[in-house]
Amino acid sequence: MLEAGAPMNSVKKAVIPVAGLGTRFLPATKAMPKEMLPLVDTPVIQHVVDEAIRAGVETLVMVTGRGKAAIENHFDVAYELEDTLARRGKETDLETVRAITAMGHFVYVRQGEPLGLGHAVLCAKRAVGDEPFALLLGDDVFDEREPALDALLEAHRATGKSVVGVQEVPLEHVRRYGIVSAGEDGNAVWPVTRIVEKPTPDKAPSRFAVVGRYVLTPEVFDHLEKLELGVGGEYQLTDALMKLAEEGRLVAARIPARRFDTGDKLDYLKANVEFALKRDDLGPDFLAYLREIVR
Ligand code: G1P
Repeated sequence: MLEAGAPMNSVKKAVIPVAGLGTRFLPATKAMPKEMLPLVDTPVIQHVVDEAIRAGVETLVMVTGRGKAAIENHFDVAYELEDTLARRGKETDLETVRAITAMGHFVYVRQGEPLGLGHAVLCAKRAVGDEPFALLLGDDVFDEREPALDALLEAHRATGKSVVGVQEVPLEHVRRYGIVSAGEDGNAVWPVTRIVEKPTPDKAPSRFAVVGRYVLTPEVFDHLEKLELGVGGEYQLTDALMKLAEEGRLVAARIPARRFDTGDKLDYLKANVEFALKRDDLGPDFLAYLREIVR
């Protein structure tokens, strides 16, 4: 049932902050954006864009910064490459390359200084305009066979409110995330009354962590504009979300998909193994190899 005043239009824009330095992955990210690290043969950022497009998004607003030109080039026409592939009759490669440019409409805005996630989202204000938008953080990648963003879009359609995508994490991991207040047992969507950025385990309101997926209404920009510096000396999106929570305008939706934190080395390796295993062209041979070396 739609609540009175809930929007009928679906979310057509997504904001993807990509200005981060990627210090967790040095030395690989010294000269290359962390978002371009591949899962098998496809950059992490392309998996994230693909998830947004599959959920019905048409325009991708990338919040970028110095040293991130490879991302813009990846989603742009690669004239010399395409011409060479065409002349050599490499039709499949040509299709693969061209399909990336055709994925959606790309808009780039710059975040001049690394002032935090709240600041990055505010940089996208003009490009987003007065409409609800999805926010996807590039480090979190979900199993593409399970639609992650859809759970949030459904919760937004049903309530007209901003939505944070959450998953339960072990208590010792709560200090890595924004943590929301719990709902009633077993509910998939619930109103958030509190959200705390990176709490210690004793201060965490629950074990439900925000895992890099949001659907936000434009009212979040009003709160972002008034933000004061928060945890870590940065403008925290979580502080603006707490204002929405206080106004009864924030809900949490469980994401029922397998997640990989590709900014974490072990999780990045796991993601590569699992993405390779499910590929028809690589999976069987790779599995045989793993069986051979793991005893
Ligand atoms: C950011 C957010 C945090 C969220 C996390 C999800 O933190 O500030 O609330 O839980 O992303 O990955 P970061 O990982 O950028 O430190």
